Amino acid sequence: MSTVLDKSAVKLDQAHQDIHVRRYKPRIGAIVENIDLGRPLSDDNRRTLNQALVDHGVLFIREQTLTPEQHVGFAKIFGNPIRKNIYLPAVAGFPEIEVIAHSDKTQSGGTDNWHVDVSWQHQPPKATVLHAQEIPEGGGGDTIWTSSTGVYDLLDPDLARYFEKLYAVNTFFASPKKQHLSDLLSGYDSPDGKSETVEESLARVRDAAQKFPPIEVPVIKTHPQNGRKLVFVNEGHTSHLLGVSKTASQSLLNYLYDLIKTPEVQARFEWKAGDVAIWDNRQVQHYAARDYGSARRRIHRVTLEHDGVF
Ligand SMILES: [Fe+2]
Repeated sequence: MSTVLDKSAVKLDQAHQDIHVRRYKPRIGAIVENIDLGRPLSDDNRRTLNQALVDHGVLFIREQTLTPEQHVGFAKIFGNPIRKNIYLPAVAGFPEIEVIAHSDKTQSGGTDNWHVDVSWQHQPPKATVLHAQEIPEGGGGDTIWTSSTGVYDLLDPDLARYFEKLYAVNTFFASPKKQHLSDLLSGYDSPDGKSETVEESLARVRDAAQKFPPIEVPVIKTHPQNGRKLVFVNEGHTSHLLGVSKTASQSLLNYLYDLIKTPEVQARFEWKAGDVAIWDNRQVQHYAARDYGSARRRIHRVTLEHDGVF
């Protein structure tokens, strides 16, 4: 064997980490342990992580010290980073990393809505990789994920068959909670540090509404990798069901929303600075608890582009 080949074999060994995937909750989530995202990962490690994401829907990795470059590099294991929300500030020199920041200026009152990110567009993002920078000192700001496949499994089979024939309308404007809409566009520190007037925020909302008209989506979809059926409607973006009365639409959606809020299909994560969470945006919904008042909470987010199969 040549010296060159010997060297490459050593290099491969050094890149491999003996990572361990441990189930977090019975129906959703896993903790990845014995992993250092600051060091290289082997092809085998990358396959393990991708498979774990398909199997568990959301992955948690505690206490990682990561540069923005390492954050983006790690996210690339799961897909192609894209800048999804141009209204959020980016990390200097890293346009792919949006900063989700709440401070005393921006207030974090009210409540969130359960949602699939950007499900008001066809082909929503495939996945998201968060890295916590600053977590409220007094606690709070947990994120909760629910398994959309787990929700489907809770349905009575006859009802599931009925829902499989239905379509819903998803829209940027669906949220019944105005707080959510205003937060979505104007509740954060603005990219240039200037605060925006209410009129400017509304103008942006109107622009977005024109650019992204309501879309029709199936109530039940199938995950392209694990083949499991899932409930795709969500409180944040679904306005109504098609082909049924307004009353029936609201009742049926409320029934599904109740299932989405069922603890048995959820995973709640208490953040510490440095923690990383990766979720498959196609098979989970999420909710960020706004229970930390004016405390600071800052998270870096890399969003991964859809791959055209969902
Ligand atoms: Fe979200």
